[in-house]
Order: sequence, then C-alpha cells, then structure tokens
Amino acid sequence: MEVVILPSSKEIAGLAADAIEALIRRKPTAVLGLATGSSPLPIYDELARRHAEDGLSFAQAHGFALDEYVGLPAGHHESYREVIRREFTNRVDIAAGNVHGPDGSAKDVLAACQGYEDDIKAAGGVDLQILGVGTDGHIGFNEPGSSFASRTRIKTLLEQTRRDNARFFDSIDQVPHHVVTQGLGTIMDARHVLLVATGAHKAQAVRDFVEGPVAAICAASVLQFHPHATVLLDEAAASALQ
Ligand code: F6R
Repeated sequence: MEVVILPSSKEIAGLAADAIEALIRRKPTAVLGLATGSSPLPIYDELARRHAEDGLSFAQAHGFALDEYVGLPAGHHESYREVIRREFTNRVDIAAGNVHGPDGSAKDVLAACQGYEDDIKAAGGVDLQILGVGTDGHIGFNEPGSSFASRTRIKTLLEQTRRDNARFFDSIDQVPHHVVTQGLGTIMDARHVLLVATGAHKAQAVRDFVEGPVAAICAASVLQFHPHATVLLDEAAASALQ
C-alpha cells in the first residue's frame, strides 16, 4: 500500500486526476470504479475541468458505481445513480449507456447483484477504483465484519454510517437502512485502487486500516493485501499515523 500525504484536497484531486488521465490516455476504453460521498467530489471537479479545458475524453470509457441505497425512488436526489450523474458523468462525454450502478430497487435482488458482477466482468474488470473510507473503516458499504471474499450483495448500514450520511438528507429518518454494495472481493479485483481520505474525522479509520491488523472489523484493512493500492491523505486524515 502506497500512502501519500498532501497539503489539501486540491493536491489530492490533482494527483488522483493525473492517475485517471494517464489511464484514459493509455486505454481509452478503461473501466472506472466510481465512489460517491464527499471524498471523491474534488476529483470529479478536476476531471470535469480537464474535459472542458484540455479535451480529456471519456467517450469510450465505462463507469461502475460502488453502491446504491435500497428504497429510494428512481431519480431521488440522493440516489447514488443520480449523484454520479450529477457530479461526474453528466459533466464529461462518457456515454450514458456505459455508466452502471447496482440496482437498489430490483424485485430479485440476488439476481440483480449477480448480474452486476457479470456486467463488471463483461466490461473487462475495473481498471481503477476510486474509494472513500467510512469513519468505521467501511469501503463501499462493507461495514465492519464484512467478509473479505464478499461480492455484490445487500447490506444493512450501521447507525454510525446513517448518522454520517444524514447530512445529505433532511433528517436521519430519511437515510435508508439498506444498500446494495460491491463486496470486498469485488473491490479487491480492481487492478488499481485509489482511496482518498481528508479531515481529522477520518484519522482513526485511516490509522486502523493502514497500520492496524488486517481484520474484518476494519473492512478497508483488506487493502493491505492489494498489489496496487494508493492512499491519498491530507495532513488531518494522516494525523494519527505512527
Ligand atoms: C460511497 C461509499 C462510501 C463512502 C464513505 C466515505 O460510494 O461507498 O464508502 O466512500 O462512506 O464517505 P465520505 O466521502 O462522504 O466521507
């Protein structure tokens, strides 16, 4: 695991965008794994800027979202499909049909999860997976205790995660209890994972997954086993590292 500490989210976004740009220029059909939440937003802003100003094209690229809430109506402002569209894919030239997300409203959730795994495989697998990390160490919505071998499936959010995400909703009561998320095994199949964490509220989770034991209680610690994992931190998020 390569850990890079940078002064601010602006530099983090620049470095992450450099990696994504290099990939897209080398392999225009690259498959990007797209996270939501606050952490990747500066990266999406920077990629949208490079598209508008430098002609960086995503026309042949593919995108796969990490996760989705269960129970939000289609088109809900906070559904991750909508967030990814609004924050990233609508701002670049990626083909709408090339952007995929787990189906949080499928009648047959098991079949939909298997179908999502099949779609990722059919696209050739994820080349670069963008990740944030939860204050409880989750990646995707793989909460503490998730199996390292897990694949896309339905999960229950912990209260802490619902509280953390309540800022996107009018009240915590509106935060769904369930999600469909890529599993840790799915995430580990990505050829490069690039995790971004900023702010002092992430310091303990960062210490746990970077320096702690690899253990299911801290899902992100599985990344210690990934052959190409890059962790981009600001100084506050890195402040508990030894
Ligand atoms: C989002 C996701 C989550 C977030 C994590 C951190 O698709 O899968 O793991 O990355 O909850 O969220 P932020 O970045 O909002 O602190």
